[in-house]
Amino acid sequence: MREVAVIGVGMTKFGELWDTPLRDLFAIASANCIEDSGVERDRIQSAYIGCMSSGLFNQQEHLASILCDYAGLAGIAATRVESACASGGLAFRSAYLEVASGASDFVLAGGVEKMNDGADATFCLASAADQEYEVYHGITFPGLYAMIAHAHMAKYGTTSEQLAHVAVKNHRHGAKNPNAQFPMEITLNTVLNAVRVASPLGLFDCSPVTDGGACVMLCPVEEAKKLGKPIIKVIGSGHATDSIALHDRPDLTTIPVVKAAAERALAQAKIGIKNVDFCEVHDCFTIAELCCLEELGVFERGQAAQATVDGATSLDGKMPVNTSGGLKSKGHPVGATGIAQIIELVEQLTGKAGARQLLSPSIGLAQNMGGSGGSSTVHILEVS
Ligand code: COA
Repeated sequence: MREVAVIGVGMTKFGELWDTPLRDLFAIASANCIEDSGVERDRIQSAYIGCMSSGLFNQQEHLASILCDYAGLAGIAATRVESACASGGLAFRSAYLEVASGASDFVLAGGVEKMNDGADATFCLASAADQEYEVYHGITFPGLYAMIAHAHMAKYGTTSEQLAHVAVKNHRHGAKNPNAQFPMEITLNTVLNAVRVASPLGLFDCSPVTDGGACVMLCPVEEAKKLGKPIIKVIGSGHATDSIALHDRPDLTTIPVVKAAAERALAQAKIGIKNVDFCEVHDCFTIAELCCLEELGVFERGQAAQATVDGATSLDGKMPVNTSGGLKSKGHPVGATGIAQIIELVEQLTGKAGARQLLSPSIGLAQNMGGSGGSSTVHILEVS
């Protein structure tokens, strides 16, 4: 396996972008990424593009071809990657493996989703849950995570106020991110008094419905050096799958797929979670951030909620989490999310994160999750 670096990033602003069609989201993100990388277009051999459901959201399939054609990349090998909300993370892993294997030198990893296009987003998103055992019985994604939250509350005494601290913290970070969908600070009272979506989760416990695109460029470390780029190396890549339906899990408070993907990525990187300086985790709902942090081993089980209240996951905390604002404040265009997480790692590691910049981090981790834990990827990046 060759060593692989990320040498360019680009994204659209995230939000309700009614005037920007799906194909334009990818064209803008990829153009920004290619310009940032300094790589000439004719050197790009391949692209992997994460998208959860362009069929349901936009009635457009055969996606990789149409997106690359519209982005001026017609002719390259292009593959659409789907793993629900982990589609972007899996696109990144696919691109990483293609470069690491020696099959290609310059590969784009992208993600895109246009969720505001007239379709019923709740219906489209639910297609990533188990149709026969969950969706036909009326469950939605907020409903699934509400069940996880109830279980966490029952087992560990987690409270709505502790969950609200996750949202307040992520909005505080997102307020410093010019690409965020909801870049405003909020108070505990705003979260606690908001309309309930699926009790105990209210409006501000939920990630929003978002349009957006994101892209990164990968190449061998040797090529990155020739280009004179800062070396942001991919030192770990983990991927795992599990049952989609929650009733097949032994304990609703655990999301085993996150632990499995993290263990694989950390083993490849030959480090422990304590060596990681900051992370982006999949906070599609406030409870998800807590469960993911406990699966990653950042905190003991049942302790992530109080650690959040105590500030451990804030920009100046021991383990800053979701410095980008996370899915909650930055937005969650599902297929693009995993790539946007990688972009945040790269920006932090290269000192380009602006007002939310951490003090000289050297290792960052991105955890992207499909649905309620049917799949997950974990990537670890290091600046050298
Ligand atoms: N956080 C903060 N504010 C939000 C928001 C969110 N998640 N979603 C919407 N808003 C704001 C809107 O900007 C709007 O504000 P305004 O009245 O000042 O203009 C207001 O709340 C109502 O927006 P609307 O679009 O009508 O909300 P909605 O009721 O249609 O949708 C949710 C709200 C929470 C149901 C929706 O965002 C949702 O389904 N989120 C979960 C997405 C999901 O499941 N993703 C997959 C995860 S696995």
